[in-house]
Amino acid sequence: EVKIVGNKSVQELALNSENLPPNNYIYNEGGVGFRDALLPSESDFQVPIIDIANLTLPSTAQHELLKLQSALHSCGFFLVINHGMTSSFLDKVREVSKQFFELPKEEKQKYAREPNNVEGYGNDTIYSENQRLDWCDRLFLKVHPEDQRNFKFWPLNPIDFRNTIQQYTECVWQLYEEIFRAMAKLLNLEEDCFLKECGERGTMSMRTNYYPPCPMADHALGLKPHSDSSSITFLLQDNKVEGLQVLKDNQWFKVPIIHDAIVINVGDLMEIMSNGIFQSPIHRAVVNEEKARLSVAMLCRPDSEKEIQPIDKLVNESRPLSYRPVKDYCTKYLQYYQQGKRPIDAFKL
Ligand code: SIN
Ligand code: FE2
Repeated sequence: EVKIVGNKSVQELALNSENLPPNNYIYNEGGVGFRDALLPSESDFQVPIIDIANLTLPSTAQHELLKLQSALHSCGFFLVINHGMTSSFLDKVREVSKQFFELPKEEKQKYAREPNNVEGYGNDTIYSENQRLDWCDRLFLKVHPEDQRNFKFWPLNPIDFRNTIQQYTECVWQLYEEIFRAMAKLLNLEEDCFLKECGERGTMSMRTNYYPPCPMADHALGLKPHSDSSSITFLLQDNKVEGLQVLKDNQWFKVPIIHDAIVINVGDLMEIMSNGIFQSPIHRAVVNEEKARLSVAMLCRPDSEKEIQPIDKLVNESRPLSYRPVKDYCTKYLQYYQQGKRPIDAFKL
């Protein structure tokens, strides 16, 4: 199988703006614009906002846990505020990420990913002629644990990129532990249950998405509909340009921009561990005709050596075992994804 990497970056395609996007970026979903999604305010549904500080105060913890529970059962997406990261720090994370993509092509190419490897700077690998590509360039880095960092892919420019991302990693990792403990509590499990299931060496990767402006924005997608290969994902959205949408009851909803909030969504591996109690939502990113958009996704994953399966205590007569055990889901995920299949379906019993 021939894999062609190193196709033109989406940023380069976007510069050539008299040309429409090449055909392999164009979808025709019955002529319905991708951006015609509903705002949650246009229906009864709201993307819930969780105040994480309330989870740690005895007087408010129970109430906030119930809010988290309804968030997890409503669409698997929620926004977290009061997470301890300041507005200026989050701006810094967005800024260094954006600055990297604004560097000359030659500078970015120093961090280019290699064929058959996800880590580094690049865009979609082309596997077949009829594949629809995402209108998105990205930088993918392993950020946790520390000894997994491949610094040859970490930009030296902007100068404060590395420091900022290391600091951000620590903050998000703390948030991850807090949320996983809360989720275990919700199911009456031992607090560290999900953390333990992910192994001593759970990992976190950062995927920074850069979506250049796109002619025919109604017919191209920044990211195709998918659910995440993670156990859980922490997303820092662009603070001006919206684009994230979540599928709920067969309707696409916009995930609103709330200043300084971190967007959290359940991933496939949490769906498996929780035996389907917490569902991994399908979402996508749309693009904008005039403005570039940036998002920074932190994907938490179990130790790749660890076999992941539904937690024993969550399997019973009324909720029979619903998933096969899986090891190194990430690699398997990519194989199914490339065939246009939803990866988690292959593990449902
Ligand atoms: C993602 O699905 O990982 C990112 C979506 C976004 O850019 O908002
Ligand atoms: Fe995603």
